[in-house]
Amino acid sequence: MKRILFCISIILLTTKICLPQMPWYHHTTIYQIYPRSFYDSNGDGIGDIQGIIEKLDYIQATGYQTIWCSPFFKSPQQDFGYDVADYCDIAPEYGTLSDAQQLIDEVHKRGMKIVFDMVMNHTSVELPWFKADIEHKTQEDRQKDFYIWADKPNNWKSMTGGSGWQYSPERKQYYWASFLPFQPDLNYRNPEVKRAMLDNVRFWLKRGVDGFRLDIFNVIYKDAALRDNPFSWKTVPDEKNPNGFFQKFKYTINLPESMAFAKELRSVCNEFGDRMLLGEVSGNRKIIKKFSGEEKNDGLGLVFNFEMLRFKFKAKYFHELVSGIEQDFPEPFMPVYVFSNHDRRRSMKRLNNDVQKAKLLHLFQLTVRGVPCMYYGEETGMTDARIPFKQGLDPIAQKMKKYPRFIFDLAGETPNRDELRTPMQWDSSFNAGFSKSAKTWLTVNEDYVSVNVAKESGDKNSLLSYVSNVLKIRNENEAFTKGSLELIPQKELPQNVLGYKRKLGSEEFTVLLNFGKKNKAVKINGKVIQVPALSGAVISASGLSLLDKN
Ligand code: GLC
Repeated sequence: MKRILFCISIILLTTKICLPQMPWYHHTTIYQIYPRSFYDSNGDGIGDIQGIIEKLDYIQATGYQTIWCSPFFKSPQQDFGYDVADYCDIAPEYGTLSDAQQLIDEVHKRGMKIVFDMVMNHTSVELPWFKADIEHKTQEDRQKDFYIWADKPNNWKSMTGGSGWQYSPERKQYYWASFLPFQPDLNYRNPEVKRAMLDNVRFWLKRGVDGFRLDIFNVIYKDAALRDNPFSWKTVPDEKNPNGFFQKFKYTINLPESMAFAKELRSVCNEFGDRMLLGEVSGNRKIIKKFSGEEKNDGLGLVFNFEMLRFKFKAKYFHELVSGIEQDFPEPFMPVYVFSNHDRRRSMKRLNNDVQKAKLLHLFQLTVRGVPCMYYGEETGMTDARIPFKQGLDPIAQKMKKYPRFIFDLAGETPNRDELRTPMQWDSSFNAGFSKSAKTWLTVNEDYVSVNVAKESGDKNSLLSYVSNVLKIRNENEAFTKGSLELIPQKELPQNVLGYKRKLGSEEFTVLLNFGKKNKAVKINGKVIQVPALSGAVISASGLSLLDKN
């Protein structure tokens, strides 16, 4: 008997050793919180860290596993936290360092993970390093610069349009800002900068944070000689191609040094165990793969692919997307599926506020091979508000307010990010239950009486109940998180239907998504499955249906 048990344990051990070990962040689900808009615990009209802590049970009960918080570090809030004035302190309106520690601990108590948002490319002009640079007058002092300075601007354009060079009258030189004028870029070619920023990273890793989402990570290095960017006919940057404003961003974006830095950052994280790094990168799949870590996926390990933010609600679109992604990001790579975030239109708005379509999109996102990243309120169907650019608190809205709105409407975008950052809709009480303050930092979207957590939790046909149901299926069946994906050829399926199989060992599920307006009958393993219009089905190998009718 003892010998049999011994043999069994040896077999189990060797299978475990032989199976490629997937890092936890390759089989998680991410829930993005925009702290300012999530929950206001102290009634000042602004969401805060204690507010997030109060709502952790909700996030856990819904079924999400990892939380990504947009920045709550000390900041003048000119870009609402993406302009950091101290990486090792918390902005007082959000709380204190001990609140942040409590948040990390409370998340861990629930068996969940938490990642912070690291803005490594630039800082606020209020960070003391920038103030020190301004004081550097002599050549010797300037050797120590933390930022990128020039006597005369070259032709480089910022990512938001116009020259990115900003004049400092005190220093009588120009500093480089990739994004907005009050966000000067750090000079990573100075080893002291790199050391100081990696120390900031370690500061949080030591406190137990499970990793970082990395803000505009692919911009970190710029050409050392500040050579002019070449001309291009491209006018507006897009998801697959960051060039624009009549220039190829050859010397400002996606430099090999930034890709090498991804590996360096990974090795810093490895000092602390398995930590997640999720990069914000603008570029095509080839570029994304380089940041992820070429062949071995030993760089960031996870990188957003923003091409899908502008998805088309069509089976053919998703078939091509998945087939391309499966080809380009096979194991050990893991794609990230994202349809909404704090910068772009919410998916619900793109879906014309159609709840049935939103259910289908969630079913896709939660059953396809990849890490799903959701934006707060996406699970309830929160949509964009419409706020005149002139009223926009968002600096991008202010920069773009001179242009007529219809241009952006035609492009299906909004430069006023306030519209998609409105407070979380918790219930149908005053301020949607977000805050007790008479005035909230942004007004609650007027649809909150019908779209809110309380109402939807009590309704088994709601979007929230559906999402939580699908999350449960995903969390209980490893085939969805760790299994392979096999697309069913389109010719074997009726028109407007997308289908794929997820397999892990003997576990196998077939997912069918009917994007069309007509009910469809699909033959799978000799059985006919009815898939109603704008609905999905998840079928086990034994033919069991895992989803309710909705
Ligand atoms: C990223 C952030 C965005 C921010 C910008 C500058 O794109 O997602 O919100 O404004 O970087 O940090």
